[in-house]
Amino acid sequence: MTDADSSPAGAILLTPDGSRTALSTRYGEAYGSRNGAAAQARHVFVEGSGTHEHPGPRVLEVGFGLGVNFRATLARCARRGVPLDYLAYEFDPAPVDVLREVAGGGEGADHPVWEDVLAGWGGPDPLTVRGSGVSLTIWFGDVRTAQLPQDWATALYLDGFSPARNPEVWTPEVLGRLASAIAPGGVLTTYSAAGHVRRALAAAGLEVGRRPGPPGKREHLRAVRR
Ligand SMILES: C[S@@+](CC[C@H](N)C(=O)[O-])C[C@H]1O[C@@H](n2cnc3c(N)ncnc32)[C@H](O)[C@@H]1O
Repeated sequence: MTDADSSPAGAILLTPDGSRTALSTRYGEAYGSRNGAAAQARHVFVEGSGTHEHPGPRVLEVGFGLGVNFRATLARCARRGVPLDYLAYEFDPAPVDVLREVAGGGEGADHPVWEDVLAGWGGPDPLTVRGSGVSLTIWFGDVRTAQLPQDWATALYLDGFSPARNPEVWTPEVLGRLASAIAPGGVLTTYSAAGHVRRALAAAGLEVGRRPGPPGKREHLRAVRR
């Protein structure tokens, strides 16, 4: 979608750590944390899932959004010299100009794989990019009806809009399906600390814990598949 009226993304927002996010015109909230978009990506998703220490992470993300979590993961894996396998779902892609502007000067933005993402955005579905030890696949569809891998992800980034605005990706049924995509020992992490999300993750068989949140948030959830 490129027509301004039908674009899911609106104004670009500068956040306190110097990184950017954008407002979602459909959901009426920001794609990333207004208290630090890059800080949230690093703390909640990369570190919260243990991906920053994993020798060969396989990440499943709901939804890809502006690619902030992907770039944070890409940059960290590139610094450590470990391969990365990343599978994401996104049913309402933002315009490529928004991805480019949000990324500008940020971590991972100068990585050749990110440049290939921008070059391929809006092309065939799925978008696949391979190179420099990275394998990225983005399916442009609804995760609720997607065929998910089984027992695969070492990390699952659950990053829909808030449970209040985007409730369909936080239901016990969807969380149950997502849980079975996680490999034994793998970790689901999300910025939410909502009690009903915690209970649904536990009902899906995950061992749920809370850890201190990123800037502006007391805590967030982290759940392990034993
Ligand atoms: C909070 S934003 C994600 C931000 C993103 N992780 C990033 O790093 O920039 C939530 C994203 O989930 C997507 N989304 C919401 N419901 C979805 C669904 N059912 N299937 C696929 N994507 C969905 C939205 O379109 C939006 O791009």
